Amino acid sequence: MGVDLEPVGRLCESHVSNRTSLVMLLQETQDKYGYLPREVLKQITREIDVPLARLYGLATFYRSFTLTPRGKHELCVCTGTACHVRGAPTVLQHLQRRLGVSPGETTEDGLFTLVTVNCLGACALGPLLVVDGKYHGKITVGEADELLSSLAEAAQQNPQ
Ligand code: FES
Repeated sequence: MGVDLEPVGRLCESHVSNRTSLVMLLQETQDKYGYLPREVLKQITREIDVPLARLYGLATFYRSFTLTPRGKHELCVCTGTACHVRGAPTVLQHLQRRLGVSPGETTEDGLFTLVTVNCLGACALGPLLVVDGKYHGKITVGEADELLSSLAEAAQQNPQ
C-alpha cells in the first residue's frame, strides 16, 4: 500500500498561501508522516515545483530530518569529546551490536532508532545516553542493557 499523499497536498497548499519556508514545510511534513518518505518528497516537487535535489539537500543538511522511518524509541548516544573519553564508544558499540543497527538506523521491528549527537551540554554526566528525550548520565553497558530490555518488554506487553 502506498503512502497517503493527501496530507502533503494540503501542507503544500498552506505553504504556498502562507509563504512559509521550505524547511517549515519539510518539518510539518515530517511531523505528519514521522519521517520524509521518498514518494512524499516527490509529491512536494510536483505540488510546488521545487527540484527534488533541493529537498534532499535540506533533508540531509538538518539533523532533525530523517529519510527513514523512526523507531518507537529513540536512543541517542552523545559522542562529544567529554562523553567519548568517559566511555561513550563502548556504550555505542554495545548498542550497535545488540540492536544490529548503525547510528541513523532503525531496528527491523521498528522499536528502536539509534542516533548519535555531538555534545548535549551535560558533559559532567558523560557518558550520556538519552532515551526518548530522558537523560541517563554516567551510563554503563549494563544499565543501557536494562533500559533496552525494559522498553522491549513494555512493547511486547503493549504492542502498537
Ligand atoms: S560531550 Fe556529551 S554532553 Fe558534552
